[in-house]
Amino acid sequence: MSVIILAIETSCDETSASVVADGAVIKSNIISSQVDVHRKFGGVVPEVASRKHLELINIVIRESLDAAGIGFGDLSAVAVTYGPGLVGALLVGVAAAKAIAFGLDIPLLGVNHIEGHVFANFLTETNPQFPLICLVVSGGHTDLVLIKDFGDYQLLGATRDDAAGEAFDKVARVLGLGYPGGPLIDNLATEGNDRAITLPRAYLEEGSLDFSFSGLKTAVINYLHRLKQKGEPVNAADVAASFRRAVVDVLVDKSLLAARQYETDTIMLAGGVAANRLLRDELARRAAEERLRVIYPPPVLCTDNAAMIACAAHYKYLRGDFAPLTLNAIPNLQL
Ligand code: KG4
Ligand code: ZN
Repeated sequence: MSVIILAIETSCDETSASVVADGAVIKSNIISSQVDVHRKFGGVVPEVASRKHLELINIVIRESLDAAGIGFGDLSAVAVTYGPGLVGALLVGVAAAKAIAFGLDIPLLGVNHIEGHVFANFLTETNPQFPLICLVVSGGHTDLVLIKDFGDYQLLGATRDDAAGEAFDKVARVLGLGYPGGPLIDNLATEGNDRAITLPRAYLEEGSLDFSFSGLKTAVINYLHRLKQKGEPVNAADVAASFRRAVVDVLVDKSLLAARQYETDTIMLAGGVAANRLLRDELARRAAEERLRVIYPPPVLCTDNAAMIACAAHYKYLRGDFAPLTLNAIPNLQL
């Protein structure tokens, strides 16, 4: 008998529901993005996000079951992201999942959003060789994590200020590119020269696996100010390419350093920024030079989606690690 899990993800601005069988077969993965709603504000407005989730949640759940060709009665368990994220947004998913678990009398599984991002890799990599290093790069996180086993993690380093995705979004905003900035910079950068502008790379103390991107962001802002004062035109493609290169250099260097320090032979990428083409290509190229293996999810599973939550939930289900019906949203939940 298959284990069939319905997972719900509402931590930020994507309302998503997915049905996954046995932790690996994606039967459906419905993602309703609110990007168009938030674009006019230049970023996610938490109150607007929770209202939109409320409007969409039942529709998205229904669609995920229909697309999977199943009904509520076929579910083994229901899973939900309960943190980290926006509290009002998380609560919509948590309330829906609890209602389903209670109504059907099936187990409820609470999943950490960051753990979900990591597990996007295990949808396809069903027999990973532990330990391995995972670089989690999203709008809210830049973490290097040692994965010792399913559910056994050690945080090795994190950002001390801006997350990588946040830096992409802020630089895109000052360039007037729009929101979300990561994919826009990624596309524009392909037309620019990544050596056109000298930008700083923060490596912090010798051997440190922490990150810092605020100095880089400020350097881009100062560069644009100087041009404006002098009345010189901005080559946005060159700025995008130089900025993307600076972020990727540090992310790749530190991921390789972590693999060496902890003697792992595999590096995984996870989170929205893992969709970045230069990051994927550079990590694969430089890791191959050191005979390290690189795993990354397809782009659609890098950004927020419920299939990754269902995959993480599957392994919790096998361990019997169920959540009580008193499960609450925890906006600053740690890995
Ligand atoms: O994981 P995610 O969907 O949501 C969070 O958990 O934060 O990540 C969203 C972040 C945004 O900052 C977005 O700009 C960034 O991922 N992102 C990218 C790319 N695609 C999405 N950053 C760089 N290059 C991309 N191709
Ligand atoms: Zn995310």
